[in-house]
Amino acid sequence: MDGHDQVWSVRWGKVVGAVRALGSVRGLRTLRWAWRRRRADALGLPRRGPERARVPGAAVRMEPRPGGGVIHFARSSLRVRVAAGGAVFCGWDGAVPEPSYALADGCPEPDARVVLEPDTEGGWRVVAERVTVTVSRHGAVDVRTPGGVVLRRELPPRWWDRVPGDDGDVPGERSVDSRWVQRAEVAADARFFGLGGRSAGPRLRAGTYRLWNTDPGGAFVPGDDPLSVTMPVQFVVADAGTHLVFHDNSWDGTVTLREGVEGAGSGHDRPGCAELRMDGGPLRYWILVGTPARVLQCWTALTGTPALPPAWALGPQHARWGFGSQTEVRRVVSGYQERGLPLSAVHLDIDHFDGHRVFTVDRTAFPDLPGLARELRAEGVRLVSIVDPGVKAEPGNAVYEGGAAADAYVRDARGREVRGVVWPGEAVFPDFTDARVRKWWGGLYAERVAQGFSGVWHDMNEPVSFAAFGDPSLPRSARHALEGRGGDHREAHNVYGLAMARAGYDGLLEQRPEERPFLFSRSGWVGMQRYGGTWSGDVATGWPGLRASLSLLLGMGLCGVPYSGPDVGGFSGVPSPELYLRWFQMAAFLPLFRTHSAMTAGRREPWEYGSEVLEHARAALLERMRLLPYFMTLAQLARLSGAPYVRPVWWHAPRDRKLRDCEDAFLLGDALLVAPVLGPGVTRRAVRLPRGRWYDTASGRAYDGPGQVLVDAPLSRIPVLARAGAVLPVAGAEGATELEVWAPKPGRHGGGLVVPDAGDGWERPEVERYETRLEGGRVVVERQGGGEVGYRVRVRGLPEGSP
Ligand code: NOJ
Repeated sequence: MDGHDQVWSVRWGKVVGAVRALGSVRGLRTLRWAWRRRRADALGLPRRGPERARVPGAAVRMEPRPGGGVIHFARSSLRVRVAAGGAVFCGWDGAVPEPSYALADGCPEPDARVVLEPDTEGGWRVVAERVTVTVSRHGAVDVRTPGGVVLRRELPPRWWDRVPGDDGDVPGERSVDSRWVQRAEVAADARFFGLGGRSAGPRLRAGTYRLWNTDPGGAFVPGDDPLSVTMPVQFVVADAGTHLVFHDNSWDGTVTLREGVEGAGSGHDRPGCAELRMDGGPLRYWILVGTPARVLQCWTALTGTPALPPAWALGPQHARWGFGSQTEVRRVVSGYQERGLPLSAVHLDIDHFDGHRVFTVDRTAFPDLPGLARELRAEGVRLVSIVDPGVKAEPGNAVYEGGAAADAYVRDARGREVRGVVWPGEAVFPDFTDARVRKWWGGLYAERVAQGFSGVWHDMNEPVSFAAFGDPSLPRSARHALEGRGGDHREAHNVYGLAMARAGYDGLLEQRPEERPFLFSRSGWVGMQRYGGTWSGDVATGWPGLRASLSLLLGMGLCGVPYSGPDVGGFSGVPSPELYLRWFQMAAFLPLFRTHSAMTAGRREPWEYGSEVLEHARAALLERMRLLPYFMTLAQLARLSGAPYVRPVWWHAPRDRKLRDCEDAFLLGDALLVAPVLGPGVTRRAVRLPRGRWYDTASGRAYDGPGQVLVDAPLSRIPVLARAGAVLPVAGAEGATELEVWAPKPGRHGGGLVVPDAGDGWERPEVERYETRLEGGRVVVERQGGGEVGYRVRVRGLPEGSP
C-alpha cells in the first residue's frame, strides 16, 4: 500500500469500527451518553438569540499607562502594554492579561521606558527596543521591526454581541460568549508554524485548524484535525523577521491560514492571512518578535520554563497496551536484557488497573507490582504508569467515593455529577480547574508511588467521554470552578489537561520532593511544559503516520513544549519491518524515545522483526545511549532558554527560504542535523543543509552548505550530519563523558555548550562553554573562562593522517 492507500485504509477502518461498536454494551452506553450530552447542552447553555455585529469604530481618546496605554474607540477599547522582556500585550474590550492559565508568573512588569504617543497619521505608536506597535484610528494594529518593516497587521476585530437584555445579559455589556473574528496579514513570503500538535505540518498550509482539544478516535493520519493539543499560538517566519502571536483564550475556535503569494496579480504581493474566529472569551493576545531563539526564550519567560525530565526519561522506553500480566512485563524486559538492548523504562497501560479503575491494580495479573518495580529498578529499568482522569462511578470504588465526598467532580448546569463513558464504563471527571480538587487528586499519586512507579503518563484528558455521535467530550454546559470565577466547559475544555498536569506534577513532587517528577500528557494547552511533556497520541501505523508524528513534535517544540515523541511503529497496526525500523531510527534522536501500540496492534519489541532489523535497532539504541549526555545538555538548555531539543532546520537561518520549506529533517540541538527516512525503499536521500560545513557522521565526508546533497541512507541507519566545529558531550566506551569535536572549517571557529548531568534532583549544574579552532591542521579545544577541559576529547572530521 502506498501512503495514500494507508490513509484511506485508516479512515475506512474507523467507520467500520464505529458501526461495529454500536452493537456492544459500550456502544449503547455511548449512544445514550451522546443523547444526554446533547440534551444537557440544549437545556444548560444560553440560547443564541439575535446578535448584533460591532466593530471598534473611530478612536476617541487615549489614556497613557505604564508600558503603553488604552485607546478608547467609539464602541470598544484597546489596551497596549509592552512588558519588560519585550512581549507586547493587546487587549480589546477591557481584556487584561490576567487571569490566565498560560502565564507562568502572572503578567510581567511593564517596560517603563516605553510610552504610547500620537503618530503623524492620527493614530498612536509605542516604540520599544525590539518592536514598534502602531494603532490606527480605526483599530488596525501594526507590529514592526525596529527597522520599520511590518511583520503583522491585525485588522480591526469584529464582535457579534447578543442583543442587550436577551437571556439575562446586562444591556450594553458584552457577554462572555460574544463571538469575534480577527484577521491578520503577514508578509507574502511568511510561513506559519505552531498551533500546538498538528498532523499536517510542520509548515501549516492553507486550511482551517480547529482550537478544541480532541481525541481523533482510533488513529490519526496527516490532515486529521484537531488532535489532543491545540494552541492558539502562531509561529510566523518571514524574511523580515520571526514573530509569535498567542491569543490567550481557551474557547473553541478556528484559525484559517493562507500563505501569501509574491508577485501575485500585476506584480503585487498578496499578503499571507491568518483569521481567528472564536466562540467567546476575551480578545487578548501577546506578540513576541525576534530571532526564533529569542522568541522562544521570551515565550518561556512568559509561559514557563520546561520541566526538566529526570535523566532516565531520556533513555529508551517501551510501552504496550495489553502486557496483560506481571510475567509478560518481566519477559519483555528480559528480552531486552538477553539481547544486550538498553532499556530505561517500561510503561504500564490501563490493562494493569483493576477493571480500568484509575489508581488501582489488577492483583491477579499483577500480584506484586512493588516487588516487580524494585526488581526492575535494581536492573536499571523504571516503571511508568498511565493515569486517566475518568473515575469509575460506582459505590465501593474508594477513589470515586473520596472524590464524591470532596465534591471533586464536574457537575452539569442543574448541579448533578456529569457521568460520561470511558474505559471503566460510567465515569465522572474531576474538576481540575479547582485548586482544592487538584490537591485531592495530587494526593492520589501516593498510591502510584507506593506501587513503585517512577513517573506518570496522562491520557484521555482532552477530556474524552466516548460518544456515538457529536463531540467525544463533556457537555459544553458542564460547570467548572475556573479558579473560583466559575464558568462552563466551553472555557474549561482546552485547559483541562493542563490543569490535570499541574495536579499530577504537584502530587508527585509532594511525594518525592528530592526528585524531578516525570510526567507527560496527551492533552494540554499553553504552559503545559511547566509540568512535563507530551507524545504523539494515537498516530496511525503507516508511512503517513511517521511523517505526521514528526510534524506534530516539531510544532509542539515551537509552542514551547520541547519534550515529546511518537509511538514508535505507530499506535494502531502492524508495521512492515522496514517501517518499524525507520520509525525506531528517527525516534532514537527525539526526546521521548518510546515504542508503544494498541492492544490489537502488532508487537513492538525490536526482536519481533527479524535479525536484520534487530541489529539495526540495536545500533540505534546504542547510539542513543552514547548521546545521552548530549540529550541531558539539550534538556538543560531547553529549561534555560526555551530552545527545543528538536528544531526545524531553519532555526539559525529563518531567512533561508529553502530551509523554511524543508519539512523532512530536523536539527537536534546545534550540533546535529538528522534526516530520517520517511518512505519505503530508500537507500539514499536528499538533505537540505544550512550554511556551513556538515559532516556525514557515518562516513566522515564533508559537505558545504547551503544547498542540497545526496546522502547514503542504507537500512542500517538514517543520515545524521554534524556541524563543523561542534562540540557535543557523549558517553565514552567506559561510560565517562567525553567531548566529541567536529573539526572546524579552516579559518572558522566552532564551539558548543555542555551541561553535565547532576542526577535526577534539583541541583543546577554549571553551563560549560567550549570553543574550537584549527591551528596548524590540529583541532584546538578550549574552555571559555580559562578552566581545564576536564574530558577526554575525540576529534572527528579531520583528514586521515592529520596530526
Ligand atoms: C489512548 C492512548 O493514546 C494510548 O496510548 C493508550 O494505549 C490507550 N488510550 C489505552 O489506554
